[in-house]
Amino acid sequence: MAIGVFDSGLGGLTVHQAIAARLPDLPVVYLGDNAHAPYGVRTADDIFDLTCRGVERLWAEGCDLVILACNTASAAALKRMQETWLPADKRVLGVFVPMIEALTERAWGDNSPPRRVAVNNVALFATPATVASRAFQRELAFRAVGVDVEAQPCAGVVDAIEMGDEQLAEALVASHVEALMRRMPFPEAAVLGCTHYPLMQDAFQRALGSQVKVFSQAGLVAESLADYLTRRPEFVGPGTRSMYLTTGDPARVGGKATQFLRRAISFDPA
Ligand code: DGL
Repeated sequence: MAIGVFDSGLGGLTVHQAIAARLPDLPVVYLGDNAHAPYGVRTADDIFDLTCRGVERLWAEGCDLVILACNTASAAALKRMQETWLPADKRVLGVFVPMIEALTERAWGDNSPPRRVAVNNVALFATPATVASRAFQRELAFRAVGVDVEAQPCAGVVDAIEMGDEQLAEALVASHVEALMRRMPFPEAAVLGCTHYPLMQDAFQRALGSQVKVFSQAGLVAESLADYLTRRPEFVGPGTRSMYLTTGDPARVGGKATQFLRRAISFDPA
């Protein structure tokens, strides 16, 4: 009875943490592809190959359902995986849709036609690959009309987090927020469209100001997963053990994870 959570590195831990809080009895296997992070500056083909490899590794741990806790992989690879690669007895779910459903005030899985929603001006912060894919705007257009999205590719933030350099990450966040606000001075909502960014959520909120509502994915993904598993319990795989795996150096990755989440986390080699 296990599910898998995959990210290019540390960011998916924000989603893992929310899933563990929402579904405490569910064993979860986490895999961070730290050896190949960041994904946000890679080509779509590269991201597809790396993501498929990571998901296969999680299948080997008995996780038939894998959450791509990575917007970059969700944006650049998920559709192709579902259309060309995924066997019928496995599921891979992304992190985009739950957040867009929340932003557009929809119940999970409500596929009714697009309509007007409360927010008109939305700031999107994401990796260069996610911004280039325009996947956020595409998914939003299925659900809402009249929403203006200004997207900021936040180069360098994931690298700084993976290096454990919080000061650099904070300075980069401030400069990306400033750059976006020059183009959209009064966003009503800001979407943290990279699972690494909640590790810097306070810095985003400070730079944006308290009047901007910041949406981050972790809690929303956990909630929609809980709902999905009540409808499709057969996709909880045969694995029984929770663990953290990394393609990087387990001691180093465990140290950075402990630093950012402020609790001890130890990793095993993938
Ligand atoms: N956490 C990934 C995301 O949500 C990180 C991307 C990266 O590795 O650049 O996009």
